[in-house]
Amino acid sequence: MSEPKKLFVKTYGCQMNVYDSERMAEALGSEGYEQVGTAEEADMILLNTCHIREKAAEKVYSELGRMRPLREANPDLKIGVAGCVAQAEGEEIMNRQPMVDLVVGPQTYHRLPEMARKVEAGEKALDTDFPEEDKFAHLPKARKPKRGPTAFLTVQEGCDKFCAFCVVPYTRGAEVSRPADRLLREANELVERGVREITLLGQNVNAYHGQGDGGEWGLAKLIREMAKVDGLERIRFTTSHPNDMEDDLIAAHGDCEKLMPYLHLPVQSGSDKILKAMNRKHTAEEYIRLIERIRAARPDLLLSGDFIVGFPGETEADFQATMDLVETVGYGQAYSFKYSSRPGTPAAEKPPVDDATSSERLQRLQALLSKQQYAVQDSMVGREVQVLFEKDGRLPGQLIGKSEYLHAVHALAPQNLKGEIAKVRIVESAKNSLKGELI
Ligand code: 5AD
Ligand code: SF4
Repeated sequence: MSEPKKLFVKTYGCQMNVYDSERMAEALGSEGYEQVGTAEEADMILLNTCHIREKAAEKVYSELGRMRPLREANPDLKIGVAGCVAQAEGEEIMNRQPMVDLVVGPQTYHRLPEMARKVEAGEKALDTDFPEEDKFAHLPKARKPKRGPTAFLTVQEGCDKFCAFCVVPYTRGAEVSRPADRLLREANELVERGVREITLLGQNVNAYHGQGDGGEWGLAKLIREMAKVDGLERIRFTTSHPNDMEDDLIAAHGDCEKLMPYLHLPVQSGSDKILKAMNRKHTAEEYIRLIERIRAARPDLLLSGDFIVGFPGETEADFQATMDLVETVGYGQAYSFKYSSRPGTPAAEKPPVDDATSSERLQRLQALLSKQQYAVQDSMVGREVQVLFEKDGRLPGQLIGKSEYLHAVHALAPQNLKGEIAKVRIVESAKNSLKGELI
């Protein structure tokens, strides 16, 4: 057998990209590529990119710039760009960075093996189609090595919501849900390989409507059926849209034990005027009522969200409405961003808020969100949580894992608890983790 060729994949952006990178490495595995940890040792470098905000795409171009010396040292090195920047920019990437050999969108990475053969033969390869066939059905039956206790599983892809600021409906395409029987089979396989926790992924995951036994299943039905998989202990899902939080999914938070008490439910803004301009199709009040219903089903649920400040037309009063909503709702954790104009989206046509104002608002919002985050973390001190230990901690003898609330928790624990769930009492709250003691 010939030497394995070496593949380095660098992932940007969301968890869907993390999942896609694993699949791309598997697809290229069938072409004799083995993954390595640094760009320096690679025969092929794949950047799996994100287009959600300006900086994300710019980072890719500067990363490509930094790769020039590697390419000069090794003219046989192949460089590929995958993901949403690839989808949005297509051939433009090769024009701007001629050393790029391969451009592949998120919907066509099952064609990577043939594309790799093409670039190995010295040609360029570009594929940003939205094909009819199911890319998941074409992935190789990879070797099934043991793996860590947590895994992502893409159940739905694409988005039909067309929020006025967002590129996802253009880069990832229309909503497609994968068939339930395949997902249950994959969940079983993951568990056989050592997985204890599965996070169901989708750009708009709670709009899941895949073909299942006896008709279409919603996300709640999928979760309830997946919960029957023996050995699977925890289920999470991300990311959701408020308008797709159906009654059964809310109920599942109360009665499905394996569904973890954590929900990422972005609202983006607290101003009805801005929500309307964003095409979110709900009001701040409706979101607050929805949270009340979810919390009635699961009172200890930890809520996470996304916020955009400085959306075109946002006044100080609109921003204050966002601050008020945050105060009312109370988040355990949240992401907040300055609005970034994305070419081709409706909001890009509107006059922007000036940058200094946006920056100042972002600071105020982040201060409030951090305060809430630390208050929730501090409130965990003294409480018992269940930690799924994933790996060694920073200090000798420590393991680190996640509580049911997705807090990172470290504790002195024996190695044999790696991959297991153990009861831990939280004794200290630090910036990005909690310290616990085994009970
Ligand atoms: N500008 C700033 N933030 C954005 N997001 C999506 N598009 C943009 C944009 N153009 C944020 C939203 C979304 C998260 C994934 O990224 O808050 O929920
Ligand atoms: Fe983008 Fe999410 Fe809106 Fe879809 S629902 S357009 S992915 S922000």
